[in-house]
Amino acid sequence: MAGADTNISSPRQHVPMNKLGQGLKSCGKMFEKTGSFRGIRERFAKDGAKKGLVNLMKVNPVSQEDFCGLVWKITDIPSMPTALQRYFDIIHDEVASLNDLEKVVRYDQSLSARILRIANSSYYGFRGRISSLSRAMVVIGFEETKRLCLCSVLLDLCRDRPALDRRTRERLWKHAFAVGKVAALIAEKRPWLESEEAYFLGLLHDLGKLILAVHLKDYFDSIIELSHGNKVGFHAAEAVHGISHGRVGRWVGVKWGFPEIYQEVMEFHHAPEMSSSHRPAVTLIFLANVLANSRSDPPLMETEETLARCGDLFISHEEWMEYGEKMARIWLEVDALWKALN
Ligand SMILES: [Fe+2]
Ligand SMILES: [Fe+2]
Repeated sequence: MAGADTNISSPRQHVPMNKLGQGLKSCGKMFEKTGSFRGIRERFAKDGAKKGLVNLMKVNPVSQEDFCGLVWKITDIPSMPTALQRYFDIIHDEVASLNDLEKVVRYDQSLSARILRIANSSYYGFRGRISSLSRAMVVIGFEETKRLCLCSVLLDLCRDRPALDRRTRERLWKHAFAVGKVAALIAEKRPWLESEEAYFLGLLHDLGKLILAVHLKDYFDSIIELSHGNKVGFHAAEAVHGISHGRVGRWVGVKWGFPEIYQEVMEFHHAPEMSSSHRPAVTLIFLANVLANSRSDPPLMETEETLARCGDLFISHEEWMEYGEKMARIWLEVDALWKALN
């Protein structure tokens, strides 16, 4: 809902403090653990070195309850779009065939055209020779077509939204594709999670962020500004306002009737220890997210927390480093997918 009156003002200042970044990170962790903003202000108020953070927090004190009500009031967060529902059902139907998928895709003109374009691309080596949808889907393969369907329909969710500029849209989706791809790779060696499911979990993990970008643009921009200005991640910066994109993801997941595992991933992918029912899957997406962010922040790969999470999933240091090396190829694939879908 473009132009919603959110009554949330942007932080009007950056606090040029070296320690602020660290402070925000701790703040984000504390918020995830307690689910509340209470206590954080007091904690930092005791620490003179982080006085700037306290001031920053005064800029925009929004209680979680107010914010929850605010988001809930936004009527333009629709119920799950029918197209998404249809693809989601097929993806989770264990007996669905390529034929069943084709029956659904056939009614979606833009998706049919995209699938034909992709099958005729140089990547598959049939340049200009595939003219039917069914043949195109065979060339691409069932699993890959399912992925394309979900990526495509999710992209349509934010297409033509004036609130979302092209750069932000591209950044959000490329990140989602990258997390999906590397999550599928990690899951290949973990028998407890299907690679396909890992891909879809990765694709959707930041849905809350996308919803914020589309429906609460002023708020989203203020977090980006804070994040860039203080060189901290989005997740840490949003703690200043007392609400996380993970929480928003959970609300949307509940509203759209996503399975519990998706809701857990969307809410806890920055704090897997908070997940009670699907911790291994949430941890896997946490690690996939670290890998996808390692291009801009390489030290993330080796933090104490990251290595501890690798240990939780029995990922050796060697295996972890291999995923890191594979990210260059994954980014090339992500760029190609983005081009094909746009
Ligand atoms: Fe996230
Ligand atoms: Fe993410």
